[in-house]
Amino acid sequence: MKTPRPQSVQHPSRESADRATDGELVDTLVSREQITQRLAQLSDELTAHYQAAEVTLLVVLTGALVFVADLIRRLELPLRIAVAQVSSYPGRSTRSQGPTVTLPGPADLTGRRVLVADDILDSGATLAAIRQRIDKADPAEVRTCVLLRKRRADGPPLVQADHVGFDIPDVFVVGYGLDHNNLYRNLPDIHALRLGEGEEMP
Ligand code: IMP
Ligand code: MG
Repeated sequence: MKTPRPQSVQHPSRESADRATDGELVDTLVSREQITQRLAQLSDELTAHYQAAEVTLLVVLTGALVFVADLIRRLELPLRIAVAQVSSYPGRSTRSQGPTVTLPGPADLTGRRVLVADDILDSGATLAAIRQRIDKADPAEVRTCVLLRKRRADGPPLVQADHVGFDIPDVFVVGYGLDHNNLYRNLPDIHALRLGEGEEMP
């Protein structure tokens, strides 16, 4: 069987971007129907890969919450759930330290097949930091799964993901778990957000 590729999503139309005012949602970039369809393919991909082996799914809070809630109900696998918390400090003094990762204890990771699930792969700094920390707990295997992957203007991410839902343009997105200032996570579709003047991407 041919493995379906990540779906490619085009840039929101110029017309819809023009209708947006500062900090407003631009039209839907990925619809709930597209998400449902792609999750069915992704879960088939994962179920086939793991061949009924036990998996520890490590949810990267908070953005991956909605994605994972929908995904896991489709996985026909013996599944354990663990959570990871990542804090990035945009302040100049702490930026060089990279993201701070809080993981479950080694009992949940050592010798386990870990599947890290995050909402979006952007620079890759988050996934790279998580991987580095998980590796210290000596898991049997680490794989990664992201709902979205940004086609960044400045080149590929630091690390790649093993499973990808959608490739999206280099725009800031919200909805379906993704936030801006912790808002918009509950939107059922994924939208591009045009940031207001002076507002920076976090
Ligand atoms: P990275 O470390 O640059 O790969 O960024 C990954 C994290 O940044 C994700 O887990 C998100 O929390 C956040 N992020 C990156 N791009 C976006 C976006 O467009 N919308 C919302 N959150 C984003
Ligand atoms: Mg996140």
